Amino acid sequence: MKTKTVFVCQNCASQSPRWVGKCPNCDSWNSYVEESTVVRPASEKLRAQIAVATAIAPVLLKEVSVHQEKRFLTGMGEFDRVVGGGLVPASVTLIGGDPGIGKSTIVLQAGCALGRSGLKVLYVSGEESLKQTKMRANRVAESTNENFFIVNDIDVQSIISHIEELGAQVVIIDSIQVVFLSEISSAPGSVSQVRESAAVLTQLAKQRGIVLLMVGHVTKEGMIAGPRVLEHMVDTVLYFEGERYSSYRLLRAHKNRFGPTNEIGVFEMSSSGLQEVLNPSQIFLAERPQDSCGSVVVPVLEGTRPLLVEIQGLVARSAFGMVRQRAQGFDQNRLALLAAVLEKRLGLNLSDKDVFLNVVGGVRIEDPAADLAVTLAVASALLDKPVAADMVILGEVGLAAEVRSVAQLTSRILEAEKLGFSRCLLPRNNLKNKMEKPKQIQLIPVASVKEALDKL
Ligand code: TYD
Ligand code: MG
Repeated sequence: MKTKTVFVCQNCASQSPRWVGKCPNCDSWNSYVEESTVVRPASEKLRAQIAVATAIAPVLLKEVSVHQEKRFLTGMGEFDRVVGGGLVPASVTLIGGDPGIGKSTIVLQAGCALGRSGLKVLYVSGEESLKQTKMRANRVAESTNENFFIVNDIDVQSIISHIEELGAQVVIIDSIQVVFLSEISSAPGSVSQVRESAAVLTQLAKQRGIVLLMVGHVTKEGMIAGPRVLEHMVDTVLYFEGERYSSYRLLRAHKNRFGPTNEIGVFEMSSSGLQEVLNPSQIFLAERPQDSCGSVVVPVLEGTRPLLVEIQGLVARSAFGMVRQRAQGFDQNRLALLAAVLEKRLGLNLSDKDVFLNVVGGVRIEDPAADLAVTLAVASALLDKPVAADMVILGEVGLAAEVRSVAQLTSRILEAEKLGFSRCLLPRNNLKNKMEKPKQIQLIPVASVKEALDKL
């Protein structure tokens, strides 16, 4: 047996005998970490333990039956929708998120709900004691479950024995960074441990038809810690996010082999666990100041669901020759670009001013349809002119300050109508396609940012 020290890329898990600054394989910078590994032959016992009794043989594609997959519902509508309409047997789901955001709470609640529906659930807690988990379960009012088992273990091999003994149908690993395989000598949480432990558990889940939920830590950059291959290995990657000091939490599907991605679920962290938020638009707009400069509402699309969010802009004279542009919940570069459009194409003077942008409620907008709203929020703040409170604003902005059409207009307008808005500024091109005229909302088409400013 010999010990080997290698450097492993945290991003793509490629190895090198020396430290390198830039990974030659995936081009990421500063991603190599030192790992010492005792090289041992893979344990035959472990492989045998998880091998299926029936031999696996190729079958004709046309003979594969495609009956509708059965899905396990947790009853938490927001969670079920994000995973694509329930959890699929023999699937692996990874949930990442910042510390303290509520990952353990959501998997506990989902697990308890599945237990109540009659499935045998095993919760493997590697980070907290049984007592702590029991206290948490008491808070979310779940202590009389007949099917919910819990074990405090971090050795993958013995976790597998627990799963087999119990015949668990749902397994929750909290978290994948603390479990380890004794075959590999490097510490839990290291690239090879995380990768191999996840691979072994995934293989087991696939062969036994288990629903496997794994909690994963995230790095400072917000990626799931450990090798990137982890995300390729699993079927579904969910991110649980939100501002630390706001009680709203968003569950976002980043990858999903069994459903749409970009779907989000909204929860509120209360003293008795996570509660579903059924009408998030209403909450995001609840504290909107009336007639305040720089406040604009946009119906963004998150997955299949339209969501009304408030965008706030603030423009201030900068103190030192350096101007700053800061955005919360919106891409910083995109903000700089839109500010440049205002400056260059509309002649607004932003060159000696700091620009700040805030998306209310901890939402992160990626939808380009929010461009015009952001641009007008900044312009409204700069010109000290409020945008009418009953208006929503839609449109993508190009570099020539033209307003481009947006996708799925109808569902966005319906959401705005539902919340009582009466006017919608929208791209003129969107009206070229035939659409049903909304009843309560007046449509104001514009072709450029200039025209939009004039109409306000
Ligand atoms: P937790 O699920 O432990 O987060 P993670 O596993 O992502 O680290 O959540 C911890 C936070 O949630 C903690 O700050 C307390 C809070 N919390 C509530 O506010 N209400 C509750 O009912 C529970 C269980 C937790
Ligand atoms: Mg936790």
